[in-house]
Amino acid sequence: MTEDRSSLPPSSEDVVLALRHCWQPVARLQDLEDGPRRAVLLGEALAVFLTGNGEAAVVADRCAHRGASLSMGEVCGESIQCPYHGWEWAGDGSCTRIPSLADQAQIPPLARIPSYPARVQWGLVWTTLEEPLTDVPGVPWFDEDHWTWGHGEPFELPVAFGLMIENFRDVAHFAFVHAATLGPQPAEVEPLVPERNGLEVRLRRNMGWGDGASSTWGALREIEYHTIAPNFTSGRFFTDEGERCLVHVSRAISATESVHYWIEGGLENFDEESVGKAIAYDAGIYAEDVAVVSKIQPPELSLDPNAEINTLADRYTLAYREAYAEFVNRALAARSTFIPRTSG
Ligand code: FES
Ligand SMILES: [Fe+2]
Repeated sequence: MTEDRSSLPPSSEDVVLALRHCWQPVARLQDLEDGPRRAVLLGEALAVFLTGNGEAAVVADRCAHRGASLSMGEVCGESIQCPYHGWEWAGDGSCTRIPSLADQAQIPPLARIPSYPARVQWGLVWTTLEEPLTDVPGVPWFDEDHWTWGHGEPFELPVAFGLMIENFRDVAHFAFVHAATLGPQPAEVEPLVPERNGLEVRLRRNMGWGDGASSTWGALREIEYHTIAPNFTSGRFFTDEGERCLVHVSRAISATESVHYWIEGGLENFDEESVGKAIAYDAGIYAEDVAVVSKIQPPELSLDPNAEINTLADRYTLAYREAYAEFVNRALAARSTFIPRTSG
């Protein structure tokens, strides 16, 4: 007997399967300048590299010859060269050269490795393991050609990325987690009215931050929170000196481990020095969040609205959880395979 899966909250297995259909960041371009990088996406080890022509490429981090880690190798023209016996692999997974063969026409026809699509956005290489449900997350207001922006140092967490994305837009924790950086904050949360439209959740909020934030960004008038489930979230800060933003995107290493990339940007009166200052400031904020979020149990985002206790102050994070569940359900519906579930 089969169940109507749409009536059940997505399970951890559902989430992992659905995330195979999601574009996720696997490297910063700036980190690929010195050669290939390894990135684990949902348990799959990938080698990410820039070809000689500067094209981003993503292939399995396992050589088809004797299983060496390709990300330990070097870029050779348009290919990545295995560090063990020097076989070269193109971004499409084909073998382009076997140095031990005098005649390259003898490359075995089965010499191939899995390859994955690569896209570049906001200084990040993105990939997806299977047919993506949606595009790389994009927001019309953050045009990388007009903003002055830069990346903070990516960090890993021993919990699912959803918990960090949720934290980013959780408004009730400021008074407790960020008193040292933001200064005293009201614990009480005004009625929140998030707007959810499919996978997107937005909220505009007037909020006075303490001296630390003001000296970094200028006097803050309003923040617009914008999240796109499952792995994009952002804040637009409307200050007296101009518009600023913090963009945060994540990758699932596994169901319970994640990597987080973050970008600081500004429009008016914002230069490279301002980027550095904003990164230094927010690194302190993130450190406070990471201390708490990395210990959350269970280490996954619950998509069951009845699994935890909620109040009115949790409306934004609940809307994100709903959007995340919608992503999972849509991705699973789009898969042709039926996922058997057991009940009880
Ligand atoms: S293991 Fe890669 S070339 Fe032999
Ligand atoms: Fe925080």
